Amino acid sequence: RDDVVRRVNALVRLVPDYPQPGVLFRDITPLLADASAFADVVATMASPAHGPVDLVAGMEARGFLLAAPIATALGAGLVPVRKAGKLPGPLATESYSLEYGDASIEIQPFTIPAGARVLVVDDVLATGGTAAATVRLLRACGAEVVGLSFLVEIAGLDGRRHLEGLAIDSVVTVD
Ligand code: PRP
Ligand code: MG
Repeated sequence: RDDVVRRVNALVRLVPDYPQPGVLFRDITPLLADASAFADVVATMASPAHGPVDLVAGMEARGFLLAAPIATALGAGLVPVRKAGKLPGPLATESYSLEYGDASIEIQPFTIPAGARVLVVDDVLATGGTAAATVRLLRACGAEVVGLSFLVEIAGLDGRRHLEGLAIDSVVTVD
């Protein structure tokens, strides 16, 4: 576990002022390219702590890269949570605020059986806007969100305040 944390810190590249000035971007691409680190991260994030999981929900785009292998590791299905306009309907849609303007995400509710136990997976928890909108979307479809699993949590942005009462795991927590 300490070893996984050390390798995540070494392999997630910090890019200042990307995609805009003042933002410190966390680039997970070098981690994905490292076969053993990627496998260890997937195994860590797929920990069975949440009990049985029917579906793993991953947020476009970087969340897909982790959610898909975690789903197969857990013996669960995958729900792609997509940015608006990418999926054919019928759809459920949820809007959320970004630093500048608003965004919408969508899923296909007919892929989610009533009461399905869903684990939410993304690469980064920052302000929590994306994750909170995903939880609202899944609950509106009748799912039970059993927890959220992130690779990196930026504690200083306090995304957890939007996720009260939910079980949140992060492989690495940074300021
Ligand atoms: C990034 C990251 C998370 C989200 C976290 O995604 O991958 O999904 O932001 O930010 P938040 O907690 O403040 O909502 P982004 O929207 O940049 O898109 P991408 O995954 O398609 O690169
Ligand atoms: Mg993302």
